[in-house]
Amino acid sequence: MPAQASPWYVHAAQRLAAAPAHALVPPQRMEWSTHREWGPGAEMLGRELCGKRLLELGCGSGHNAAHLAQHHQARVTGVDLVGLQVRRARAHYGHIDGATFAVGHALHHLRVGAQPFDAIYSVFGAVGLVAPELLIPAISRRLVTGGVLAFAVPHPARAGRHPSRDDRPREDYVTMPDRSRLPLARWEFDRDRWAVHLSRAGLRISSAVELRHPHLDPWPTTLLVTARKP
Ligand SMILES: C[S@@+](CC[C@H](N)C(=O)[O-])C[C@H]1O[C@@H](n2cnc3c(N)ncnc32)[C@H](O)[C@@H]1O
Repeated sequence: MPAQASPWYVHAAQRLAAAPAHALVPPQRMEWSTHREWGPGAEMLGRELCGKRLLELGCGSGHNAAHLAQHHQARVTGVDLVGLQVRRARAHYGHIDGATFAVGHALHHLRVGAQPFDAIYSVFGAVGLVAPELLIPAISRRLVTGGVLAFAVPHPARAGRHPSRDDRPREDYVTMPDRSRLPLARWEFDRDRWAVHLSRAGLRISSAVELRHPHLDPWPTTLLVTARKP
């Protein structure tokens, strides 16, 4: 399917039609869940991020990349499949030192480049949306020794669902700004299945945190996984 037909393109087009993107002040926190100002923050990527090279896979409009560049002095590249999203990210945060945005498929971006990263992360981005048996080894190849992979995915047991019993993707939906829903394929693994894929690619799982807002969520909504390259 061409990128222009993907639900992510429709999502970005609706957002831009509703409001033109303009320069923003980067958020005070890194967010891993759909709830703002709650849950873990940038510490999931390592204690000292100043000067570190970070890569975000599926950066959307760039809020987390901008936070990491502005508040932690990291050098962050945000990659997104959809040109319109990258245009929004640059309009919002193109003025922030250390934040760079590029258009591309995460897998292609990882495979064509050679520059190593101290941490690679995804917040409801490419991890979980691209075949893990291809994406995780490509990520591992671009991490330095000791480097961190961290990713947040929709929790596989949210809203009464169950984690996949095999390595195949399942049908899910993305809700558009106008509340319509478009289908997409998503890999919905539990902690143990992610650990197997990470291990095959030479990464060691360090944590898998289930995020569930104590007052707002009836079940865990987000699975936040971290791994390290030994
Ligand atoms: C739910 S949004 C999350 C955006 C951002 N990480 C955030 O937290 O606001 C998912 C983003 O991933 C991007 N994306 C999906 N598949 C991708 C891929 N294969 N490579 C790069 N970006 C991808 C989409 O275009 C979209 O902008």
